[in-house]
Amino acid sequence: MGESHDGADTTLFERQREHLFFTWSAQRDVQPLTIVEAAGPRFRTLEDGWLWDLESQVYNVNVGHRHAHLQARMTAQIQELPAAAPNAALPIRAELGELLRRHTGLHRAFLTTGGSEATENAIKIARLVTGRSKIVTRRSSYHGATLAVLGVAGDARKEPYARHLAPAFHIDDPYPWTPETPSSWVRSLEALIEREGPETIAAVLLEGFTGTNGMQLPPQDFWPRARALCDAHGILLIDDEIFSGFGRTGRWFAHEHFLGGHTPDMMIVGKGLTSGYAPLAGVVVAEHVAAHFDTNKLWCGLTTYAHPVSCAAAVGSIEVLEREQLIANARDRGETLRARLTAMREAGLITSARGLGLMWLVELDRPAAPLHAKFRAQGAYVPFRGHNLFLCPPLCVTDSDINTIVDLLAAVLADAT
Ligand SMILES: Cc1ncc(COP(=O)(O)O)c(C=O)c1O
Repeated sequence: MGESHDGADTTLFERQREHLFFTWSAQRDVQPLTIVEAAGPRFRTLEDGWLWDLESQVYNVNVGHRHAHLQARMTAQIQELPAAAPNAALPIRAELGELLRRHTGLHRAFLTTGGSEATENAIKIARLVTGRSKIVTRRSSYHGATLAVLGVAGDARKEPYARHLAPAFHIDDPYPWTPETPSSWVRSLEALIEREGPETIAAVLLEGFTGTNGMQLPPQDFWPRARALCDAHGILLIDDEIFSGFGRTGRWFAHEHFLGGHTPDMMIVGKGLTSGYAPLAGVVVAEHVAAHFDTNKLWCGLTTYAHPVSCAAAVGSIEVLEREQLIANARDRGETLRARLTAMREAGLITSARGLGLMWLVELDRPAAPLHAKFRAQGAYVPFRGHNLFLCPPLCVTDSDINTIVDLLAAVLADAT
């Protein structure tokens, strides 16, 4: 075993690459990222030392790393009862159900191990309830990586499978738009409903606030009009809050910025539900959807349904969001970030920036990939795609953290121009 000065295994990356795949990559292109420890909004790597975690791992470590309360909740559950059959009643499951009810305003949840599986079950539930099959999504949308979900969504990650998938039903993205020239999305949804026939459409599935496909603020009428069109045609409105939920945008759920007090019929949650401390996601449904299954069989199930340790992680994470007021923190720190990014744009360092809470996209005038290593060398892990950087730190960052992060980004960008 090779050893670094602090005793960490320098051969670990090669050992792991030999026998485990890395995701979304040609294996020989994967760059080493050996995480040694983590705390709050940062993690320490063998390669670059301490890094600001601007991806919150996979946009999921909302409360921050190694939070003692989550660890205590999970440890207590492991000691009390670490495994249980899907239909067993347990205090931790009842507790989580009540918390989800309180924060989503919806009625009953079906819990899965990951977000794609939750979307998959949302589609199944929508089809069972309506007896219809088509699922409408935005042209630029990501809802997960399983085949049925890739089939209905619009993200480029479906391309390698495209010829195996059934046709999808997309509406236009709600941008670009100005108050004077509303986008074509409403017309495209109306036209799609008319063309396909409302009696064939089970649901309209939309991301609460679109993640890696844009972080574009929709026009204010986007959600209310989608809600009204769904109501008019007996179509279910499904809100995918996997990325944007649990405080990421400065509200519990992103649709609260847009839906004006209305709720979707179903909401899909994941990622920040447990802050990534254990695998758990779910679909939470309104009372009228839940009522369908009072007498009709729910044809959905999983071996690790509502896993007790994952439920403990979710309860712990929600408790931390509440007690430490991290959602208000995300909103306020997001304003600091907005002001600093506006100044960077005015200084010509970036092309534009847009976002909500602590969910931001920064557009550059050049490909972002070559900058990634430079940011890492200076102490920040910054995810990117094309010309865009994503800034999504854990919700526990302070104003001083935000200023340190932006100073670091600005210095690297100024140096690179
Ligand atoms: C909006 C959205 N939906 C669904 C998913 C899929 O979740 P998972 O990766 O947990 O399967 C993701 C993951 O990035 C997402 O961002």
